[in-house]
Amino acid sequence: MRRRPVRLGMAEHDTAQGAAAFESLVSLLDYPMFIVTTRAGDQQAGCLVGFSSQTSINPPRFLVGLSRRNRTFAVAAEATHLAVHVLPREELPVARLFGGETGDDTDKFAQCTWHAGPEGLPILDAAESWFVGRITHRFDVGDHVGHLLEPVAGSAPDELRELISFSDVRDVDPGHDA
Ligand SMILES: Cc1cc2nc3c(=O)[nH]c(=O)nc-3n(C[C@H](O)[C@H](O)[C@H](O)COP(=O)(O)O)c2cc1C
Repeated sequence: MRRRPVRLGMAEHDTAQGAAAFESLVSLLDYPMFIVTTRAGDQQAGCLVGFSSQTSINPPRFLVGLSRRNRTFAVAAEATHLAVHVLPREELPVARLFGGETGDDTDKFAQCTWHAGPEGLPILDAAESWFVGRITHRFDVGDHVGHLLEPVAGSAPDELRELISFSDVRDVDPGHDA
């Protein structure tokens, strides 16, 4: 016997089924992961980020979503720039450190090597490639805050090795819940 589809009002139908379908879909995606660092005064911070995307070619722009609960968000609120790093697979422990620990409790920068880069931002030595962006806009995007970046400096090799993606870190328990 064929099951009758559950009849819902349009608004309910849209929200409930749409959200469920969306969650199933995004759990299947495998997108690149970044470590985003920042500095304000003598405070520096950084966390693992998946909510990010290039949004424009000319002018070049890149969007980073930071959770309001993260220490990185608090430091970024006082900062002018963010550094966005991509890491090769062999640097997985660094990605797990920045995603699984919070700077509220742990000095992550004491557990990895880094150097001061443009605008005094911490640049992780584990990075295959990175860029620094000036924060041009901040806006509400839900439980994260969008930080729109204008790239001002960076380093990229001719070719990238295999990079860390969501499937490599989906088991990491975040230092802060979103
Ligand atoms: C797979 C994965 C994806 C994540 N994506 C984001 C993200 O896009 N934005 C964000 O702010 N935090 C994200 N996080 C959470 C932070 O990396 C995590 O809570 C971190 O411990 C926060 O550190 P902080 O408090 O020092 O900033 C993600 C964590 C994991 C494991």
